[in-house]
Amino acid sequence: RSYHAIVLAAGQGKRMKAGENKQFIKIRNKPLIIHTLELFNRDSWCTSISLVVNPKEEERIRDLINNTAFQKNVQIVKGGKERQQSVFEGLKSMEGYSGMVFIHDGARPFVSLDSLHELAEATFTHQAALLAVPVTDTIKQVKNNKLLETLDRSTLWAAQTPQGFHYDMIFKAHQLADEQNYTGTDDASLVERTGQQVEIVQGSYDNIKITTPEDLKRAQAFIDPEEPEEKI
Ligand code: CTP
Ligand code: MG
Repeated sequence: RSYHAIVLAAGQGKRMKAGENKQFIKIRNKPLIIHTLELFNRDSWCTSISLVVNPKEEERIRDLINNTAFQKNVQIVKGGKERQQSVFEGLKSMEGYSGMVFIHDGARPFVSLDSLHELAEATFTHQAALLAVPVTDTIKQVKNNKLLETLDRSTLWAAQTPQGFHYDMIFKAHQLADEQNYTGTDDASLVERTGQQVEIVQGSYDNIKITTPEDLKRAQAFIDPEEPEEKI
């Protein structure tokens, strides 16, 4: 059930309004991206990691990684302008690989080992799977401030990452999207449009994506206050 992890960190973090890529923001003295990489470093099912970065930040990220004791090989890959392009660069850099690959947002440092393993089992069996949670809010379809429809909440789930795939399947799905200039909302959506089924694995509401300053406050509170602070 082993997998290779592609971790995405090549965004700009505009909604965080921190004046720099949110991946560098420290949560209890450790940059966000290091918290996320440590998850995969800890998981014995993860064989190796590709970290996709903005070429301008490559040096800075390399320094951070060299200052952290990772047992696993972390390969650095240059990302693209949009998330989808960054994923495609990550996939292209592993050509010839033939196992399972997990694609994960660097901005989600709270995915549990249980979720990772459930996702690995589902990906092994179904070729494509993703973590998601049932939405808790009532979702309205709105246009120009006018309500169009109240959607049936029981069928609505919020997609998270990691999303797991057999390498060939996700590589081909990305290649096709690239050729056709198609942009999807996530990696699973690119697989869906090739006609493949994607399995849903129920994740946890703790697996938030740190997007806004409010998320960052929640994240600070999440990280175990008993854990001694590490300096990096
Ligand atoms: N990402 C990436 N390459 C891009 C854009 C995004 O690798 N060109 C990564 C981000 O670093 C992040 C993940 O994709 O870990 C999810 O994206 P998001 O939360 O939207 O992060 P940002 O794009 O950095 O934030 P924002 O949209 O607020 O600018
Ligand atoms: Mg973004």
